[in-house]
Amino acid sequence: MVVLLLLLCLPFILYLATPKIRKMLSSGVCTSNVQLPGKVVIVTGANTGIGKETAKDLAQRGARVYLACRDVQKGEQVAREIQATTGNNQVLVRKLDLADTKSIRAFAKDFLAEEKHLHILINNAGVMMCPYSKTADGFEMHIGVNHLGHFLLTHLLLEKLKDSAPSRIVNVSSLAHHLGRIHFHNLQGEKFYSAALAYCHSKLANVLFTQELARRLKGSGVTTYSVHPGTVHSELTRHSLFMRWMWQLFFLFIKTPQQGAQTSLYCALTEGLESLSGSYFSDCHLAWVSGQARNETIARRLWDVSCDLLGLPTDW
Ligand SMILES: NC(=O)c1ccc[n+]([C@@H]2O[C@H](COP(=O)([O-])OP(=O)(O)OC[C@H]3O[C@@H](n4cnc5c(N)ncnc54)[C@H](OP(=O)(O)O)[C@@H]3O)[C@@H](O)[C@H]2O)c1
Repeated sequence: MVVLLLLLCLPFILYLATPKIRKMLSSGVCTSNVQLPGKVVIVTGANTGIGKETAKDLAQRGARVYLACRDVQKGEQVAREIQATTGNNQVLVRKLDLADTKSIRAFAKDFLAEEKHLHILINNAGVMMCPYSKTADGFEMHIGVNHLGHFLLTHLLLEKLKDSAPSRIVNVSSLAHHLGRIHFHNLQGEKFYSAALAYCHSKLANVLFTQELARRLKGSGVTTYSVHPGTVHSELTRHSLFMRWMWQLFFLFIKTPQQGAQTSLYCALTEGLESLSGSYFSDCHLAWVSGQARNETIARRLWDVSCDLLGLPTDW
């Protein structure tokens, strides 16, 4: 009888305990009290999920925050929401479609003309498990948006970041990078394609890019970090019914977007992190990267191949 009663009460108990369980599981909290008046920030994919919460926190600290979104209407709605909650009117929306190098170049051109400085660039936008598709420039969607799009954006904004030093670049990667491999002979997934693995490969590319960029930026005053935000309730699972089910099944163990933003914020704000440039963080701590992610030869080759695909010089 007692057991039956307990079983009947279990959903209610779980419901009451959910906030506590979530708090326990999301140990990483950015405790920095750095304020950002006069600082300029770009967050890509800031109209929803982790990016939106990252932008909100940075706006709360007084920065001028650019929401770089492919859907300007959605972005404007979020900008109004952030302005209302933070009281910061300097939340601006600009069109950026990372699946189109023309859009990336147009975004960067306008930004460079508009702003004297850029102190923080958060390369956050991402897609996961899309059916096989290509960007406007013919790149496979995951590698095109998650890696090449941010690679080009960073290249175009780098001089501004250097001029604004100390400045930081945060690349939002994932724990999924551990399953990733850079198959140079099949970078565009034309020989074989798995939507899940394509995501992992692109997230590995984020970690390799961060490390190679850090090596090249030594002494410039610009530092860079890659992060795993945790498993976060967001729209990322939109292309996979299975993943949506999994996220629902394990909802107790999944972070809110606000909790998911903490490691990006930690890397963007924490004082004294400069010597760890190039490192990978999770839950606001240094974390292990996969074997391939530590391979400098692969990082350098990926850099050269990315430059080649995008028509960029390799020595930046
Ligand atoms: N959620 C997780 O559990 C998790 C775990 C590990 C890593 N991450 C990483 O965290 C980052 C943020 O993801 P999220 O969970 O917040 O997902 P989300 O809610 O789906 O947000 C992704 C954002 O990226 C934008 N985006 C997608 N394609 C774009 C494009 N071509 N150009 C410009 N923006 C584009 C989306 O814009 P639209 O709304 O217009 O589509 C959206 O704003 C991603 O890099 C993801 O890989 C997430």
